[in-house]
Amino acid sequence: MKKIVILISGRGSNMEALIAAARRGDLANAEIAAVLSNRPGARGLETAAAAGIVTAVIDHEAYPDRAAFDAALAAAVDAHAPDLVVLAGFMRILTATFVNRFAGRLLNIHPSLLPAFPGVNTHARALAAGVRLHGCTVHFVTPALDHGPIIIQAAVPVLDGDDEAVLAERVLAQEHAIYPLAVRWCVEGRLAIEGQQVRLAGSTQANGFLRSPQSS
Ligand code: GRF
Repeated sequence: MKKIVILISGRGSNMEALIAAARRGDLANAEIAAVLSNRPGARGLETAAAAGIVTAVIDHEAYPDRAAFDAALAAAVDAHAPDLVVLAGFMRILTATFVNRFAGRLLNIHPSLLPAFPGVNTHARALAAGVRLHGCTVHFVTPALDHGPIIIQAAVPVLDGDDEAVLAERVLAQEHAIYPLAVRWCVEGRLAIEGQQVRLAGSTQANGFLRSPQSS
């Protein structure tokens, strides 16, 4: 059985989508070993605990600097000997030391079609830029923020009259679809990183979705 550790900071809806996928048997032979949060009040902690998953808080405010926090976080992650570490709404920038320790087994989901709109406030920035397509990206994490090799993306249209909340909701529905798929491919050992590109073994399927609002 492969082991997954999920890192969250808040609501935890992507984490919930992964828990549901695991329950359905959609994460191949993988189990979610633990959910860790850097925020004591993260709502997702309750959801994980209710699902019978081990939870822990590593409060970043309890550490003098980023390096000390990351060392404590790495130790907490390592305690579960995970095959895969999944960032699901984890809102702390990780040091290169942390990222390199888990290189090749550290995934993130970002609410934009990278490389467009790295960083925060992606939906507001997409609306301000007037793009007609927006979406989400699952990628391997590298020390450069939101720049790692892309595993899968889903695109949604930006419609006249959209506000930030409506657009965020349309994108989030796609996040919940593509993250479990990417995690499954990863635990199945089907992903190979070649430079900035990710190859999916055993499939001719393109690693991208285009969704109309009706299908989301
Ligand atoms: C998601 O939009 C994710 O892409 C971003 O933060 C949000 C977290 O939502 N990194 P949730 O905690 O998974 O509900």
